[in-house]
Amino acid sequence: MGDQLKAYIREAKAHLQGLTDVKAAYQDVRAAMMTEVETIKTAQAQGRAVIPEVSYVRVADGTVPQAMRAEIRHRGCVVVRGVFDRSQAEDWNAEIGDYIARNDYLSKAKEKAGIDKYFGGLKSGTPQIYGLYWSKPQVMARQAESMAATKRFLNRLWDVAGPMGDEFDPDHDYAYADRTRRRQPGDTTLGLSPHMDSGSYERWLDPAYQKIYGAIFGGQWRDYDPWKATYRTQTREFSSAAVCSMFRTFQGWTGLTTQGPADGTLSLIPVAQSIAYFLLRALQEDVEPDDLCGAIPGRALGARKQWHADILDGLISIPTVGPGDTVWWHPDLIHAVADAHTGTDYANVIYIGASPKCAKNEAYTRKQAQKFLEGRSAPDFAPEDYEVDFEGRATIADLTDLGRAQMCL
Ligand SMILES: [Fe+2]
Repeated sequence: MGDQLKAYIREAKAHLQGLTDVKAAYQDVRAAMMTEVETIKTAQAQGRAVIPEVSYVRVADGTVPQAMRAEIRHRGCVVVRGVFDRSQAEDWNAEIGDYIARNDYLSKAKEKAGIDKYFGGLKSGTPQIYGLYWSKPQVMARQAESMAATKRFLNRLWDVAGPMGDEFDPDHDYAYADRTRRRQPGDTTLGLSPHMDSGSYERWLDPAYQKIYGAIFGGQWRDYDPWKATYRTQTREFSSAAVCSMFRTFQGWTGLTTQGPADGTLSLIPVAQSIAYFLLRALQEDVEPDDLCGAIPGRALGARKQWHADILDGLISIPTVGPGDTVWWHPDLIHAVADAHTGTDYANVIYIGASPKCAKNEAYTRKQAQKFLEGRSAPDFAPEDYEVDFEGRATIADLTDLGRAQMCL
C-alpha cells in the first residue's frame, strides 16, 4: 500500500479515535459479541438452528411473522427455501454444465489465468469461480417473478425513509450480473478466508460510511441500526476489479445442488451488529496508526485470527440447502467458504444478490446493459469476456418485460 493511502488511514484513524473513548466502546461491544458467540455455539451444540429459514410460499403470500423478520434482522442472514422448483434448478445446473463444456471454457480459462486479483490477498487463494454472466439459466433466475418477490421481501426489511426521501425503492430491483460457482467434491483449492465485501478501508475512511456507522464511532454502538438505509447508496468504494459497484441490501446465491456443512459451502457469523466490533477493533492502541487490521483498498476485508479471534468462533455453516433454495446475508456480515469440500456432490450456485432501484444502481446497470448486449464480462469484473462468441448465451430476446426493466433495456 502506498504512502499516500497510509497517510489517509492515519488521518482518519486519528479523527475517529478522537470522537469517543474507543477503548471503553470496544470493551463493551466485545463483551456483547462474545455473549452472542456463546449463544451461537450453545445452539449449535444442541442441534438448534441459528440461521433463520423461511419458506418461499410464506414470502409470496406475505405471511412471514414479525418475530421471524426480527430474527432475520438480528442474525443478518436468512435461507429462503423453494424460490425455484427443485427440478427447475437441477435443469439449470445441467444446462450451465453443458454451456461450459460446449464452449470449451476450461481451456480458454487457462489462457486468461491471473486476471482476477480481488481475492489474491486472502490466504486460501483464488477460488475456481466461473467468469460467466450471461448463460440462459443465470438470466432466467435473475428475472424470475419468484426472485423479484423474494427481493421485495428482503428489501423491505430495511428502513428506507430518510431526510431527503427514500434511499432506494424496495419494490424494484436491478439485475446485478455476477458469476457462478461449480465446486467439485474433494476440492481443496477454492476456499475463501472469512471476509466481508462492499468496501474494506472505505468503511473507516469514506464520508458516507462514517455517517452510516456514526453511532458506532460515537461510542453508542447499541444505537446503530444495520437496517437504516440512509447514506447506504452514497458510499464510494476504491475502484478495483471484482469490488461490487452496486448497493446491495443482501448478498446472496441460489443453490443448484444440495450442499451443507461438509460440502465446502458458505459459513457466516450470524450477528448483524458484529460490524461494530470489527470497526472498533481497528481503532485500538495495539494496531499501528496506519493500519486497519490489514484492510487493503480494492480487496475483500479479511477477518483475521490475529485481530478478530473473539468473534471468529461464531463462524458457522449454513444448513443443508437444496436446488432452488436461496441464501442471503447483509453486506456487513463476515462470511467464508470452507477450504475443503468433503461431501460427495457438486456444490454449485448462481450468485444473485438484492440490488434495489436507486441512482447508484441505475448508473451501473446502464453500463452493464452494454456489456450484456456484447456478451462481455460485467463491468465490475475482470474483462475476461469469455462469452462474446459463446454458443447459447442469453440475448435481449430472452428478456421478459421484467428482465428488461431490471437491465435498463
Ligand atoms: Fe464475499
